[in-house]
Parts: sequence; structure tokens; C-alpha cells
Amino acid sequence: MCIFALLFDMKKILQDPVFKIISDIISEQNTPAFVIGGFVRDIFLQRPNKDIDIVTLGDGIELAQKTAAKLSPKISVSVFKNFGTAMFKHKDVEYEFVGARKESYSKNSRKPQVEPGSLEDDQNRRDFTINALAISLEKERYGELLDPFCGIQDLQKKLIRTPCNPDITFSDDPLRMMRAIRFASQLSFTIDPETFNAIKRNKHRISIISSERIVEECNKILLSPKPSVGFLLLEKAELLPYFLPELQALKGVDFIQGFGHKDNFYHTLEVVDNVAQRSDNLWLLWAALLHDIAKPNTKKFVENHGWTFHGHEFYGAKMVRKIFQRLKMPLNEKMRYVEKMVLLHLRPIILATDVVTDSAVRRLLFDAGDDIDDLMLLCEADITSKNDKKVATYLKNLALVRQKLKEVEEKDALRNWQPPISGDLIISTCNIKPSKVVGEIKTAIKDAILDGDIENTFEDAYAYMIKIAKEKGIL
Ligand code: CTP
Repeated sequence: MCIFALLFDMKKILQDPVFKIISDIISEQNTPAFVIGGFVRDIFLQRPNKDIDIVTLGDGIELAQKTAAKLSPKISVSVFKNFGTAMFKHKDVEYEFVGARKESYSKNSRKPQVEPGSLEDDQNRRDFTINALAISLEKERYGELLDPFCGIQDLQKKLIRTPCNPDITFSDDPLRMMRAIRFASQLSFTIDPETFNAIKRNKHRISIISSERIVEECNKILLSPKPSVGFLLLEKAELLPYFLPELQALKGVDFIQGFGHKDNFYHTLEVVDNVAQRSDNLWLLWAALLHDIAKPNTKKFVENHGWTFHGHEFYGAKMVRKIFQRLKMPLNEKMRYVEKMVLLHLRPIILATDVVTDSAVRRLLFDAGDDIDDLMLLCEADITSKNDKKVATYLKNLALVRQKLKEVEEKDALRNWQPPISGDLIISTCNIKPSKVVGEIKTAIKDAILDGDIENTFEDAYAYMIKIAKEKGIL
């Protein structure tokens, strides 16, 4: 990081007309204002950031309103009186204004008691040194960097460190423990040992944080370049059992009669990292995180054979809903997608170790539908053996499965395919009431098509329906 080049960048960014307008206003009324927090940090990290925080020694709401009025009469300002903040959007960028404040927190809440303070007070109450940087917008000090806690030095050292006593910073707002780990994962930074030890000491305080906020941080960890960095830190800090005990339970290896199994915690993180290298689909990353989640519950030792985890994909898929429910995550198609990925995650590899028949490929395509490419990616990511030869063989076989999938897809167009005979048609043709047998006939037709016994046409399916109905004695 060449600090002079970045300071030059900063000067360029400060040419932004919004900053100039703020500068004019605060000079007239003699109430200093500063750009502060994540936006300043990201100038030096050269990361795009569209959330700009402005702190003023005057009234934040008033400054927001005056700035917006000067920019354009069309801009509407959202005011949050209770928080003393106001914000508006201009050209895709969000500007949030607040008066500088001192905060003190009570033990059981993240809601601070707030009173006006100096810039130093405001910087003091922030989470990390790299997030406490401020740039003056005052005319005579325009662009001056205010860095009382050596945040720039920490940026250069790639260090996450609290500005004050970390026990106070984390106890004030325990979400910051997650934020520390999330920043470490997102930015490939390390956490200062003193700060990290304080996370461990204050871990129990995470229980006052809402699940939604915890999940938000988990999502950011999953979307970071190497998510294992974050999850390893969460485990090391002993935070993981508070919100994902199922993931924690994957850790450890049992040995009986000299047979061990792989440590499913580290394996899972390797799979997540593999997916992260190829995809930024958050829900596929969740699927990777949860793909083996039922292994501890299904683990069995078989004499002279070793460890088995039969059915872990079924139990795992069931656990997805429970975990999503507990963490207040969306119980919608995203969850169903994760369930499906967990349920099907073994299918391509089982197929690849066997003879790759058209009918098995058709079934896989039918069950995975549009998500087949994601499933293949997850399955490839799941190959984490230390044995290079084994990995190469599996990958070769999976490539064969991909090839077959393509051929079958071109031939049969089975993605999102619906069998050509509906339940209603079975009911009317056979003159029966809706009943179990309707489902049986429908499944028999579907199976016959997927197995290649009949063509995927209405005529063949209709004839087959008549045949089955006769066999069942209902025609
Ligand atoms: N902040 C804090 N404690 C928190 C959250 C935020 O001290 N729990 C401060 C930090 O100074 C932070 C600023 O408020 O930089 C803005 O917060 P936010 O927009 O949530 O985070 P960013 O740091 O901008 O990063 P990101 O957008 O990636 O969350």
C-alpha cells in the first residue's frame, strides 16, 4: 500500500460535489463535519463503497436536509429522529448524517445511551482502528486525515484492533466480535492477539445479538475470498457453538480398531473454500457449509469395516429447515434450494463411481432440474482427498457425468420436465376418484420415461397409462 498514492486517491474522491456542498454549509455555520468509518477505510483499501457516513459536531439531521436541498429539490431525506440520523440517496450512493456522539451501553442491550460528544469521543466509540479514520470537510482543513488510533498503520499491517480496551468495545456491542472475524475473513487481515483474547473472554455476550445480525455476518464470511478463515476463527474464538452448534459438532475424529474417519469440520471448510473459488452464490455456499451436517448423527462403526454415515444426506436435508428456522433465515425457495443440494450432494459422485447409464443421468437431471450445474459444482468441490490419484479419478468420472448430462439434456430436455400425463387425465380416463393409485400410475409413467422404457411423448405415455390401469384392474 503506497500511502502517498492513496492520499492522492483520497484528494480525488474529495472532489465529489456532495462533499463540497457539505463543506460550504458547515463553513457558513461553523459546525465541523467529517467523512468517517467504512468509506474512509475503503479508500485506503481501494474497495468500492457506496455508503458514506458523515459525522458533524452540529445537528446531523439538519445538515442532511440542507445538503439534500442544495443538491436537488428532488432528493427526499429519510429522518430517524430516535437515532438522531438522517440519510438520502444520490446517484446510487447513500449518505448518512449523524451528530458526533458519546455512547454508553447497559449490560443487556445493544441500545446505547447517547449524548453529544467531540470527534474524538465519536472515534473512541467505534469498533476498530481501521473504522475510526475520519477526513475533515472543514474548508481550512479539507481532506485532512484524522487518525488518532493509528488506523492507517493497522491497515498497512493488515490488523484488526479495537481503538480502546477490547473488553469494553465488545461488551458494549457484542456484534463487533462477529464483525472482527468477518473483516479478517473479507480482507485477509489478522486479529490482534489482545483483541482476539477479548473476543474469547466475551463470547457469551453474543447471546444478546439477534440471529438476523449474526446471519448477516455469516453471509459476509461465506462470501469472502476464503470463508474458512472466518469459520476457523469463529471456532477458535469459541463463538460457533452459540449459533451453529451443528457445525461445531462436525469437529473431531474417532478411532476404533485403528479405523478413523476424516474430520468433517475441516473437510466442510475445504468444500466451502472450493465452492467460493468458483461461485458467489450465497445459497450454494450455505449448502456447502451444511452438506455433511448430519454426519455426527448418522455416524456408525461397522466391525472390521470402518465408519459409515448412511443417510446423512436425508437427515442433513431435514436439519436445514431446523437450522434456517432457528436462525430466522428465509424459509422460502432459498431454503428449499439448500435442502435440495444437501439431499442430492452424493448423487453425482455415486453415479460417477458406477457405470454412467442414460437412465441414471436422466433421473439426476429430473431431480436436480435447473440446479444441476450448481449440484455438479458442489459435488466437485466435495472431493477433498489428500490422495491426488483418487481426486483425479473422481474428477475424471464427474467430467464424464457432465458430458452425459449434456447429451441427455440435448436429447430429452429433462430440466424442469413434467411427465406428459397429468393426475387429472388419469382420473378422467380411468373414471376413478382422486386416490393413491393416481399417484402410483403417474410415478410408473415417469419412471418408465426416465428409465428409457418408453419414449418421452404423450402417445407413448398415454398407451402406458392404459396398460398400467388394466394391470391394476381399474380399466
Ligand atoms: N460501527 C461500529 N460498531 C458496529 C457497527 C459499526 O463501531 N457494530 C462503526 C464503524 O466505525 C463502521 C461504521 O460504524 O465503520 C459504519 O458501519 P457499517 O456501515 O455497518 O460498516 P462498515 O464498516 O462500513 O462495513 P460494512 O458495510 O462492510 O459492514
